[in-house]
Amino acid sequence: MVQFLPLLSILSLASAVLLSQRQKAAAQVVKLTSTENLAVRSNGQILATNMQSPNLYTVDPVAKTSSTAIVLTGASGLSGIGEVLPDVFAVIGGKGIYRVDFTGTTPKETLVKEITEASNLNGLAVLNNNTVLVADAGRGDVYRFDVTTGAYSVALSDPTMTPSGSIPFGIDGIKYRDGVVWYTNIFKNSFHKVPVDATGKATGAVTTLWTNLMGDDLCFGPNGKIYVATNGKNSVIEVDPAVGKPTTVATVTGSTSCGFGRGSADKDVIYIGASQGIFQTTISM
Ligand SMILES: *[C@@H]1O[C@H](CO)[C@@H](O)[C@H](O)[C@H]1NC(C)=O
Repeated sequence: MVQFLPLLSILSLASAVLLSQRQKAAAQVVKLTSTENLAVRSNGQILATNMQSPNLYTVDPVAKTSSTAIVLTGASGLSGIGEVLPDVFAVIGGKGIYRVDFTGTTPKETLVKEITEASNLNGLAVLNNNTVLVADAGRGDVYRFDVTTGAYSVALSDPTMTPSGSIPFGIDGIKYRDGVVWYTNIFKNSFHKVPVDATGKATGAVTTLWTNLMGDDLCFGPNGKIYVATNGKNSVIEVDPAVGKPTTVATVTGSTSCGFGRGSADKDVIYIGASQGIFQTTISM
């Protein structure tokens, strides 16, 4: 989610300044207000969303430029994004799930369907080439959503996903890999995983990795590690899934999301969405 608490931000900024004496700051790629989420295309461009805009932005990390790739009709703001097929993306716009196709000469957008009963859709994970998992931060559950037909139903619901605090946000970041769903709960400061079957239904218990560090969205590194944007904690952290303890990689103010480069020149580069734009830093492989 976007950076939300001014007081927390000021306190965090102070700690970020202290931290930066020890931790490297990620470098700004482009300035882009309140980046909410991002996805890296196979051609190296980064697609970025903003919860206050229907524009899907495209960022060239080499030229360090940004522009609007396409406007999603009927949306007032965009959040989670993921690639379902080569250069075809599912994007959350309000209660709607859009399909954005970059395979032609100009990008095409289609509203697949609205999840009418949704409260606050935020994170999105790709389960397979036709299904996404959509996290409802307001209701504290996860829908499986067919990006062709728009058929959807609740796949996951757990107390670790429920909202808490004055802003009704619970489950926030979500990603899927190799039979496991990884997710954060932003105001519970927690990070979890749950094994799932091919339909996204849990096949085992939820494991909680921590309950003392804010997490927004996350991404998988090429080195098998998981990276989590910590939003109000102004950083990106790395976690070895086998160990489960976070270590800070870089400081970034209001970090919301991340994704890795897909080219030979940037495969060890993590791109980070944040309140002041898109940032990057190199990770150790
Ligand atoms: C999607 O995945 C299924 C199952 O792995 C596969 O059979 C199918 O060919 C894939 N479709 C496309 C368009 O890649």
